[in-house]
Amino acid sequence: MSRIAYVDGVYRPHREAAVHVEDRGYQFADGVYEVIAVRRGELLDERLHMQRLRRSLAELRIEGAIADRPLGLVLREVVRRNGVVNGIVYLQITRGAAPRDHAFPKTARHVLVVTARRNRQPNPKLDEEGIAVITIPDIRWQRCDIKTISLVANVLGKQQAREAGAYEAWMVDAAGYITEGTSTNAWIVTGDNLVVTRAADHAILNGVTRLALIDIIRREGYGFAERPFTVQEAKAAREAFLTSTTSDVLPVVSIDGAIVANGVPGSLSRALRAAYISHAEGI
Ligand code: PDD
Repeated sequence: MSRIAYVDGVYRPHREAAVHVEDRGYQFADGVYEVIAVRRGELLDERLHMQRLRRSLAELRIEGAIADRPLGLVLREVVRRNGVVNGIVYLQITRGAAPRDHAFPKTARHVLVVTARRNRQPNPKLDEEGIAVITIPDIRWQRCDIKTISLVANVLGKQQAREAGAYEAWMVDAAGYITEGTSTNAWIVTGDNLVVTRAADHAILNGVTRLALIDIIRREGYGFAERPFTVQEAKAAREAFLTSTTSDVLPVVSIDGAIVANGVPGSLSRALRAAYISHAEGI
């Protein structure tokens, strides 16, 4: 089945899909995006993604964007046309195309792009054995709570992780606290079995997976705290893991080469992963 993309009102073959050279997303990264998991053909936690999208658009003052209902129809149509049963749907809204000028254009209209793709072959080794992360300075701007397409610092960080043989890079703020991964949220489990993740301040993206997992943690009655933690605390933690739409809940067993959780996925991480997967499958 050939891939189809939606670009500014038109469904097109993926290889021919293109935006204007003066699209502000291309020139200024002036836009927002969402990555939504598709499970059994349904959009996982759609409402939370829509809420975050509206917030991102409002923070960038991109006005008049397509409403939730018609957007939902486009997302489903792209999923359907690409035959995606399990995978992701990607949506991006930019401020539109206009002659290059930093200030908002008076006449530009936002541009919506939607693509979808099937899940890559799952790698059960990652869940069973856990993954390695490195830590790097967080060199991003001060509004990481907005899901903008301006991701070059994240790109550099992820590449650094790859070159170090790690799955992810956890970024560290000026005070020595971990903010988040380049495309994931960061978590630890303390010696007294408290699940800890940074509060959703301006330094991190409030992950939809993070929100869904907090719900599960509260419902199941696990000890939980939203607070920052340092690299030292993470290295000494009983367990560590990360969350995202594309990784679910993934155990972390090494940080900067230091072994966490005896080098194998911890029991709480595994339980939370299983509970999250039940949530995702139970649409
Ligand atoms: N990344 N933090 C950052 C910086 C992210 O880019 C993401 C998501 C997350 C986790 O958010 P969520 O649970 O809503 O996926 C945290 C997406 C998947 C991406 O850019 O591909």
